[in-house]
Amino acid sequence: MQRTHLFLVLALILPLLAALAAAPARKFPAVADLPAHTELPDPLVMLNGKRVTTKEQWIKDRRPELKELFQYYMYGYLPPPRKVESTTRWVNKRAFDGKATLKEITLSFGPAEMPKIHLLLVVPNKRKGPVPVFVGLNFCGNHALVKDPTIRLPTVWMYPNHPGVKNNRATDEGRGAEIDVWSIEQSIDRGYAVATFYDGDVDPDRPDTRDGIQPHFRLEGEKPDPHDWGTIAAWAWGLHRAVDYLVKDRDLDKDRVIAVGHSRLGKTALLAAAFDERIALAIPHQAGCGGTAPSRGKVGESVKRINTSFPHWFDATFKEFNDHPEKLPFDQHCLVALCAPRAVLFSNAVEDTWANPEGQFQVLKAAEPVYRLLGAGGLDADKMPPNNKLIASTLGYYIRPGKHSMTKDDWKVFLDFADKHLGKPSGKE
Ligand code: GCU
Repeated sequence: MQRTHLFLVLALILPLLAALAAAPARKFPAVADLPAHTELPDPLVMLNGKRVTTKEQWIKDRRPELKELFQYYMYGYLPPPRKVESTTRWVNKRAFDGKATLKEITLSFGPAEMPKIHLLLVVPNKRKGPVPVFVGLNFCGNHALVKDPTIRLPTVWMYPNHPGVKNNRATDEGRGAEIDVWSIEQSIDRGYAVATFYDGDVDPDRPDTRDGIQPHFRLEGEKPDPHDWGTIAAWAWGLHRAVDYLVKDRDLDKDRVIAVGHSRLGKTALLAAAFDERIALAIPHQAGCGGTAPSRGKVGESVKRINTSFPHWFDATFKEFNDHPEKLPFDQHCLVALCAPRAVLFSNAVEDTWANPEGQFQVLKAAEPVYRLLGAGGLDADKMPPNNKLIASTLGYYIRPGKHSMTKDDWKVFLDFADKHLGKPSGKE
């Protein structure tokens, strides 16, 4: 072959090979061919039966394998990152009686028709340098968390049963309706910033995906793939884009970003932390099935039930486990293990049996071998603690009396846990 021809052939083939190398592996067995594990599978044993015994093997082999497995069989592959353009809409330096600066930032991702994230950021004014920041999605819109008429009302689909929502649209009546749920002033007083956005900004919580980010990652006419991301992965993608912004904001400490979320948004926070090491700590609160509870659990919500009630949350392949959760080649302890060596807190309520608080304790326990391998500690308890007693080890656990909800007292525990693992914000020591 002439030299010029050879170059031409290489020029054509190399980009193709590069694209193939970059594409997800997608080479795992059919669900029917997977072996059954009635107990939580050993997080250190690879799909091929080989056990990893060193930190290097965990990082090089097992961690990437688990990330692939979770995407392939459960959450779907997360969409690729997009370049984030941020526009600060307005700033109020005298919020909370002068204690904090409040601002709203629009994050956009290229084409004008692509959904935008409207991030509310509250930063304490009394600070000696960059502060740690909580970041999470909310259920009701930013306007529900702080009573300030400047905060924009969401213009996208809203949950019908939340305060101040009429015909699936946000109204002024919802302003401040969820102040206690996020209890932002308490975080300010403890020296933390809080960043949050409405989940519907990224993907409305319904099976119809037309109004979310989904269509913007598909080519015209392209059919959905059984391993395409579901809504929880789409929300986690959104959380990652918020982190893209936060790590560049000089008021914030990029090494102390804390992902937080309640329930389905707790599932999102844990997935986001597992897949993004810029998140220093994860607090999935009462996240339950598909998040912090075992898929093999016999208490509360089952895989079949969650896939039936919320078919859009996971990928199509996850439905194949409806009657065989024991075939999953992982369980949720492996998602926690992906966060290692970073701290993770599971917090629960006694009456919230739907989220299986006891099963969640077992999940943390089962993630321990990976934390120990990395020299990161573990869960310093062999049985469930009494109510209201925080186990503040790297794998943290907490249960309090009451129902499925996020409260001011829960936030106090989140703050204590963050203080312990990331250090108290300066000026608060
Ligand atoms: C339902 C669902 C749970 C979910 C919860 C919530 O109860 O079954 O999986 O965590 O909603 O998000 O509030």
